[in-house]
Amino acid sequence: MYTSLQARLKTELKAIADAGLHKEERVISSRQGRMVRVQTADGTKDLLNCCANNYLGLSGSDELVAAAREGLEKYGYGLSSVRFICGTQDVHKELERKTAAFVGMADAIVFSSAMTANMGFFSAFLGEEDTILTDASNHASIIDGIRLCKAERYIYKHMDMADLEAGLQAAQKAGRRTKCIVTDGVFSMDGDVAPLAAICDLADTYEALVVVDDSHATGFMGAEGRGTHELCGVLERVDVITSTYGKALGGACGGFIAGRQEIIDMLRERCRTYLFSNSLPPVIAHTAGFAMDYLAGHPELRAKLWENTRYFRKQMQAAGFTVPVSEHPIVPVMLGDARKTQEMARGMMAEGIYVIGFSYPVVPEGKARIRVQISSLLAREDVDRLVAAFVKLRG
Ligand SMILES: Cc1ncc(COP(=O)(O)O)c(C=O)c1O
Repeated sequence: MYTSLQARLKTELKAIADAGLHKEERVISSRQGRMVRVQTADGTKDLLNCCANNYLGLSGSDELVAAAREGLEKYGYGLSSVRFICGTQDVHKELERKTAAFVGMADAIVFSSAMTANMGFFSAFLGEEDTILTDASNHASIIDGIRLCKAERYIYKHMDMADLEAGLQAAQKAGRRTKCIVTDGVFSMDGDVAPLAAICDLADTYEALVVVDDSHATGFMGAEGRGTHELCGVLERVDVITSTYGKALGGACGGFIAGRQEIIDMLRERCRTYLFSNSLPPVIAHTAGFAMDYLAGHPELRAKLWENTRYFRKQMQAAGFTVPVSEHPIVPVMLGDARKTQEMARGMMAEGIYVIGFSYPVVPEGKARIRVQISSLLAREDVDRLVAAFVKLRG
């Protein structure tokens, strides 16, 4: 009988709405791009898009649409199979090869999302005898992946190397079999970069594995865009990279795990979210592979992204806004107060700019902010317009 559950859900949904936590889904009727056509209460509006993970502007691009068309014609729409039955086409193997080469790892394995990659990763080869050391601000997919695994869990304070070391020491003393450190490469709410060199040093000292979720870095962080491990100078020292094709690498969907050979081999044998879920649609596999080739031939996209990012951060700081110091196109404009943040986000929309405000419990209480995401698609005038709108609305 649904009646009692229905009453409970209605009460809980009302509580969510009353607390101002309802997640409104705005409807877009254009491609993803520099401008997006958004349905608003005042009708359809073309807005400057500053809240997508479309860092390099590929998501709605003609080049990717053409590549997707080609992939669709060649490989068909779907495979109606998991990988190990009849769901592996040459295009999947090719994507895995390209991905491993792109991030500089021995091998890679493709998933239908980074969420499913992270959900399946830990339980594939860690168990009760092992310890996972995880940053307190890691992404939900890592948190849930760890929950599915029987390993002991040590949550270290965000980017706190002394606390991580304390956890490693305790695990060492207790004679744990495998110690696995896992961190986001870039944390999505603050745009801060994990101290991977220090993490790798600790991993060497305590013989721990290093796993990095680089979803907000693959394609544009580091000299060649390989990711945070390239930026931090630890290309050979990180053991595993998990990431998404759903952000800078084309923005559709799909995820991957790249790493040491035996780890990838074991995931093919044991990873439940890989084994028991359909193959990545071949059109995505083909287009994600194209995106990586395309980026290798177009370094100007990364250059433009960084030019825009640095300019925006500098202008906002000069205008007196609190913008945490970091080098990433995720730029949180810290406002503190939740109501002020929501008002400002609405005001930005009225100014023709699409940004999102985040408040508690998505971010800590009193740390409400508007999270701006910079893209290579923005022109200098767009960034000026963005800064001017913030200044105007601050009053
Ligand atoms: C750090 C991080 N990991 C994993 C994911 C999940 O990526 P996907 O959309 O491919 O499931 C996200 C997406 O929000 C993310 O930010």
